[in-house]
Amino acid sequence: MKYENVDIFTFNSKKPKKEPAPVNSGTEENAGSKEIPAELRKESLAESRKESLAEPRKESLAEPRKESLAEPRKESPDEINPENKNMSKTADSVEDVPDLVTSHQATSILTPDTEEILQASSSDNLCKDCRNDLSDHILKTESKIESDVPSSPAKSIFKSSSLPKTTPVSKPVSKNDSISISDLSLESEVLGSSGKEDFPFEGFAGCDDNVLKASPVSEAFGIVTTGIEPLELTPSGAVITGYITSARRDEIRLGTYVVVPYENGEKLFARVGKLQYRQEFVVDDATEIHSRRMLSARGNPVNEDDYKFLACLDPLCILYRKAEGKLTRRMADRIPHPNTPILPVTDRLEVQTGLNIPENGIFLGHLSVGGELLKTNSEPETVAYYLRNDYSMGDPLIFRHMLICGSTGTGKTFLSKNILRQFMNENNRYRLRGSPSKARKNPCLVIMDPQDEYSQFFEDNENLTEDDKFRFESENVTYGRVLSTKAFVAKVDGQRYPGDKSRAEQIEFTIPFSLVEHNSWLIAAAGMSELQYIGLEVLLGDFFKSSVPHTYQNFINHIENEGTRSYYVDSGKLHESSYDGIVRRVRSHFFSKVFDRDATSITDLVDKIFKPGQISVFPTEYISAPRIRDLIVLTIMSLIVDNKLSTTGKEAIKETPIILALDEAHRYLSNANGEHSRLIISRFADAARQGRKEGLGLFLITQDPQDIDDTVFKQINTKLILNLNNDAAITSLKVPKEYERRIPYLKKGQMIIHSPDNSDIVEIIGLSNCVVRHR
Ligand SMILES: Nc1ncnc2c1ncn2[C@@H]1O[C@H](COP(=O)(O)OP(=O)(O)OP(=O)(O)O)[C@@H](O)[C@H]1O
Ligand SMILES: [Mg+2]
Repeated sequence: MKYENVDIFTFNSKKPKKEPAPVNSGTEENAGSKEIPAELRKESLAESRKESLAEPRKESLAEPRKESLAEPRKESPDEINPENKNMSKTADSVEDVPDLVTSHQATSILTPDTEEILQASSSDNLCKDCRNDLSDHILKTESKIESDVPSSPAKSIFKSSSLPKTTPVSKPVSKNDSISISDLSLESEVLGSSGKEDFPFEGFAGCDDNVLKASPVSEAFGIVTTGIEPLELTPSGAVITGYITSARRDEIRLGTYVVVPYENGEKLFARVGKLQYRQEFVVDDATEIHSRRMLSARGNPVNEDDYKFLACLDPLCILYRKAEGKLTRRMADRIPHPNTPILPVTDRLEVQTGLNIPENGIFLGHLSVGGELLKTNSEPETVAYYLRNDYSMGDPLIFRHMLICGSTGTGKTFLSKNILRQFMNENNRYRLRGSPSKARKNPCLVIMDPQDEYSQFFEDNENLTEDDKFRFESENVTYGRVLSTKAFVAKVDGQRYPGDKSRAEQIEFTIPFSLVEHNSWLIAAAGMSELQYIGLEVLLGDFFKSSVPHTYQNFINHIENEGTRSYYVDSGKLHESSYDGIVRRVRSHFFSKVFDRDATSITDLVDKIFKPGQISVFPTEYISAPRIRDLIVLTIMSLIVDNKLSTTGKEAIKETPIILALDEAHRYLSNANGEHSRLIISRFADAARQGRKEGLGLFLITQDPQDIDDTVFKQINTKLILNLNNDAAITSLKVPKEYERRIPYLKKGQMIIHSPDNSDIVEIIGLSNCVVRHR
């Protein structure tokens, strides 16, 4: 049977050579017209139009297909042999026969009479009797496919992708079956073997020579088509529709990366931006009878041959080789040729170049699509995603700041540890632009740790297997403990740091009140009015001019003194109510527990804290009062910011590249808390702006990105977005809509990276192991 079909096809395909008849008959079927010599095309068009008039398309498409609404498979013989229409009606009436719908079963289910007729119509006689009719029908309806045949890539696609899928020989000839892919493959084989010169069509320039050799067409997902929508490329967008062969449909996802080769070795690199099923034949499947049949059908009621599966490609760039052979990308400025194969990306370098991902740098994860790792033919087969960490295109991107956001429990800390560890590689050194020595230094990682998790940088993850380590090494992933991890513990009355999470050295410190001299906001409570804040500055200014030791207690004693009060109030320097308000807010038993305790002042520890190559962790979990925690974090933040920004800042801070990791960043960088917050934030934003020059990288971690002040947020170049389910949070990230929609569905470890100066926006999956201990 198959061979019969092949004959029919071959016969028809060759027919135009002698009499250029119906090659491209319908308006939709012009996919291959490019390959037909102009003269021939004109003729064949004219001819086919004539034909379509004489024997309207309606008959070949609409009518039989209307039938197929009830009988999607069985009606085909009618189509071929219209006399048989009655029979399909007979079958139609057998409503409760469930299996009518599947073509393979159709013959066996039909009444013996039907079967006989069907078989008769589908048997060899059919070919003899209806050869011409059939060829006309088929050519009209399927000339697109037929015209594809001469084009080599298409030919090969059909050949390769359809080989495993053989149609049973005894199958009745239906419209669908007669053009089944396997038949086409055979047909194309026959055509192929008949020699090129037998063809009335021109070869597809370039494809035969270059593309097929260069690309494994057997892997093609399908071909670029023009039958559905015209191929279009404009400065603002593109319409590139691909037909996906039935064998590969399961593999295509929204976001799948593909390449489409050009004749000169260039490739269009694209992403699947839309998927669509279309009926191959006009069938009303929104009917009771159809749905019942489908529902009662055993197994999978979908026959892929009944549908076109279309993938719209969003072009990302053109991949080409420079004269020196380096793979490079440029804007998608070429339109792919119709009928060229759509290939999966199998080369790691192609993906990295196509998405503009650096080939090395700080390892963040592996490229993925819809939660599945992207695999290539390279070794290792996954595609690592790196963050630019050299000076080839400006400064390393960490100095343009990073944000990790995700709802609680989505793996922010796990991911942060894996990323931060990469910066602590012995060979990772940065230069400071302002530094007189110009020497490159390892960064110092300073971590504000609200849940006592980061001192575990001092410990190995004992669950790592040799395999894991081998994989890490093959992709330049740094792993293992950092021996220079130290925990800096603020001494707070009545609170003790358990320090049982790791064996890292613990160093106690206290915050001297003298720091408040230039950072009045450290003791300005939330809700302080602007007048009160100005008043506080006046009081502090005068206090620090006095000769008494500059301790918190002395300050409180000073402002509580009746003489001081009347000095300010009576002289009109401060309003009475402002003065009392300030005293009330500043006099807090929390502060007395923190300032000037019996430990080394943090200002004396600067050289110990800010050391190249060291991880300095500031745990705050053991402190029960949030106000004290905030005070500690804000102190460290201001210590870094002040010294980095000031020209006379302490050398240890000024001359060390610092990565400041701030967990729960929204607590410190939200301007919702009044005047004093605004000051902190503007200072912090200044520091962020100067980060590149001063060697200060911010690594912010939060579950509420929407609460981070805009001035700081604007400075963040790299955003790693884990699962978020809060609409306000998602919107605040300002990622393209198609990515925004995915955020609530991201699985643990899966994230979207928005880092415009590093790569296109992509989805990646972080490591499934932590490179250091995480418990
Ligand atoms: N990629 C991953 N693969 C496997 N397990 C993971 C992954 N990411 C996180 N986990 C596990 O999920 C749990 C929560 O992770 P983690 O503590 O990092 O979440 P979090 O977002 O920091 O939570 P919180 O909001 O409480 O700070 C941990 O037990 C961690 O081991
Ligand atoms: Mg956490």
